[in-house]
Amino acid sequence: MIYIAPSLLAADFANLKTEIRTVADAGANYLHLDVMDGAFVPNISFGAPVISALRPHSKLIFDVHLMINDPGRYINDFVKAGADLITIHLESCSDPAKVLKEIRDREVRCGLAISPATPVEEILPYLSQIDMALIMTVVPGFGGQKFMPDMMEKVRTVKRYALTHNLKLDIQVDGGISAENTATVTEAGANIIVAGSAIFKAKKPRAVIEAMRKEAEKHPYKA
Ligand code: DX5
Ligand code: ZN
Repeated sequence: MIYIAPSLLAADFANLKTEIRTVADAGANYLHLDVMDGAFVPNISFGAPVISALRPHSKLIFDVHLMINDPGRYINDFVKAGADLITIHLESCSDPAKVLKEIRDREVRCGLAISPATPVEEILPYLSQIDMALIMTVVPGFGGQKFMPDMMEKVRTVKRYALTHNLKLDIQVDGGISAENTATVTEAGANIIVAGSAIFKAKKPRAVIEAMRKEAEKHPYKA
């Protein structure tokens, strides 16, 4: 099953409630929430209070992508805000295993992300402890950047590892994805696809989500 996760970063911030309803009605599965602290990444977005305010207005899976230093400090806040899935960056803390365990102990799904500069080998030891691996396909910090096809080799490595070790693992890709390159990411093994600009900036978000889903179905994982 392929899941589509519109990234709220590309939404109209003056109309968030309407924006999330639009993508839910258009067939989205997840709502990808990019939290940026101006330190781990150069940009500042929004935090737990905004997520908590949106929670009562949506049944979508709240997929919180933390691009913040030392995320362990805030796990409680994001759990309380209503996150269903919390992803931290491998590069953002000294003991990722400890933070991942904290997330799991709160009965929230946990994800681990790697930025383009981080070798895939660094995430492999954690795969048995997480629900989702996030392979960034842009340098984190901003929406609307260009997709990096070179990252597909990492997706393939993670997918192969999960298959050979019998792990139930979701693989998410994030950055520069649209219907045009959905086939590339699903053939490599990704099953949760984040798209910000492609969906929120479209005149017809439903058509984009349907096109992405169709591409994904036509192009399943190819070993
Ligand atoms: C980048 C964020 C992405 C971004 C995706 O740091 O993690 O989720 O919002 O936006 P697009 O799809 O526009 O590249
Ligand atoms: Zn993201």
